Amino acid sequence: MNIIEKLKDIEADAKIRWIPVIGSSKAQVVLDILSKYKPKRILELGCAIGYSTMVLGSLGGSVVTVDTNGKEIIEAKENFSKFGFSNIKTIHGHGNEVMKEMVSTGEKFDLIFMDFEKRYYVAALELCYGLLGIGGVLVTDNINHPKSALFKEMMLKDSRFESSLEDVGDGIFVSVKVS
Ligand SMILES: C[S@@+](CC[C@H](N)C(=O)[O-])C[C@H]1O[C@@H](n2cnc3c(N)ncnc32)[C@H](O)[C@@H]1O
Repeated sequence: MNIIEKLKDIEADAKIRWIPVIGSSKAQVVLDILSKYKPKRILELGCAIGYSTMVLGSLGGSVVTVDTNGKEIIEAKENFSKFGFSNIKTIHGHGNEVMKEMVSTGEKFDLIFMDFEKRYYVAALELCYGLLGIGGVLVTDNINHPKSALFKEMMLKDSRFESSLEDVGDGIFVSVKVS
């Protein structure tokens, strides 16, 4: 059984409770991205109850995930234990503040999955840039949502990244750091 099938009940439960997890179609796209880039260290911004986090952690890389919602982090951690994930670390905090700290200590990630409040995407850009090496990948959910429009425009003009659209739901942007 693959991870998407394993997480079917979590996906269904999230739907009933109006928790906006990426769901199986986007999860398949995320798995394809992981298979292509094979990231060893992954940072996630916004885990909710951990659905996408477990997808990100399912192919062997380690995941650090950040969320402001303490209650959901507790539930996410229960899910990580229930599904046997020992490669996921959670941080309770504001994604951009946590990234600032990480940049100052020289941390690096191979892939960042950005799925927190869209109004923070623009401010997150330079921090994500600082945390990725050349060849690192910034994966941004909800890129075609109106609230992501400015961020999308910035990314399309930013020659430090090569961005392409995965046309699933309201879009996933895959931006490879090239310089
Ligand atoms: C769309 S949900 C994440 C869903 C999850 N990625 C999934 O697909 O399973 C967005 C999450 O971002 C969190 N969030 C909102 N603002 C945040 C911030 N400034 N820093 C970190 N997380 C934040 C919310 O608490 C919420 O859990």
